[in-house]
Amino acid sequence: MLEAAKHLLTPSKRSNVPPFMVMDVMAAAAQLEAKGIHVVHMEVGQPAAPAPATALRAAQKALAGRIGYTETLGIPSLRSAIARHYTDIYGLALDPARVVVTTGSSGGFVLAFLALFEPGDRVALANPGYPPYRHILSALGCEPVLIGTCAETRWAITGEALDAEHRRQPLAGLVVASPANPTGTMMEAGALARLISAAEALGIRVISDEIYHGLDYAFSAETAAKLSERVLVINSFSKYFCMTGWRVGWMVVPDNLVRAAERLQGNLAISVPTLAQVAAQAAFGGRAEMEAVKRGYEENRRILVAGLPKAGLDKFLPVDGAFYLYADISKFSDNSLDFAKRMLEQAHVAATPGIDFDPINGKHFLRFCYAGSAAEMHEAVQRIGKWLRA
Ligand SMILES: Cc1ncc(COP(=O)(O)O)c(C=O)c1O
Repeated sequence: MLEAAKHLLTPSKRSNVPPFMVMDVMAAAAQLEAKGIHVVHMEVGQPAAPAPATALRAAQKALAGRIGYTETLGIPSLRSAIARHYTDIYGLALDPARVVVTTGSSGGFVLAFLALFEPGDRVALANPGYPPYRHILSALGCEPVLIGTCAETRWAITGEALDAEHRRQPLAGLVVASPANPTGTMMEAGALARLISAAEALGIRVISDEIYHGLDYAFSAETAAKLSERVLVINSFSKYFCMTGWRVGWMVVPDNLVRAAERLQGNLAISVPTLAQVAAQAAFGGRAEMEAVKRGYEENRRILVAGLPKAGLDKFLPVDGAFYLYADISKFSDNSLDFAKRMLEQAHVAATPGIDFDPINGKHFLRFCYAGSAAEMHEAVQRIGKWLRA
């Protein structure tokens, strides 16, 4: 090839975001399964159950008609149903005009970051945290700023920590998540309210990722939409409603950002997949089915919280919500990727190494997803115990 043409095939620097290490674990698990070995999968963060029957029926019915584009901000009846959800669950009267339907919450992050930030803006994130926050921000030319969390602050950012970082170098934004991934920890409503007030007093814009709302076991999650009309809330049908593959989520945005979100989404995607929106609206009618799924997670949580300490993993973060348990493995290893690989090869249990979520201390942690069956949880506890004792 001509020397001058070589750069035509070179990816942009901004596309150079890290991959998920868990993919290595998944590939190794697939190799074991190809040999006929039964692996207990606790590495991928998605529900084992299908979408609610109400959603499936609505999608089947819609297939008989024409599947065209929808309004850029989402089907109006879906936006109204989402607004009603805030009244039903949180007692908040929400104007449907502030609801923006998105392609999963992932699509929401791109819209939110573009609508709120300029290139070079610094955005605070809790460490450990969900990696795509930092990777999407970097790809968009913003600077992710990791703020360490610890047991004393229930693994959440505090107003004081935010203030200290802002004084060091000004921040433009803050992303909070409660329940959080990978830790499964939650912020009490008071702590969330104090953090939002501290951020707003410093002129820092807040984004609240509420994708795991509905999956709370220790206490109820409060929506940031109730605490401030200036917060941008992101949510999704992926987790509580078991609809990961449908790729539909939503944002609740301050009034003056609706048009910006509409302009961006109109250009980036035109609209969110129509069939997924129809199914999502009907999912609200499947709440009883989803509550039964949630009771299954509660049982799984009980099995792990009681069983893992007996198996040898006796140190983990408060198991408040979502479907994650974040275990400290430092007494066995200071290399969580190697530990995860050995646990997979020898105990046939797959979990995610903490380094995916925390470049600083993640080498000492493993994330277990407990969205599978109770039988799998018992099996995992038993296999891990046997392996650690060997
Ligand atoms: C904290 C958090 N936010 C957002 C997402 C993205 O989910 P989706 O795009 O399916 O809504 C995930 C997925 O695992 C997550 O854990």
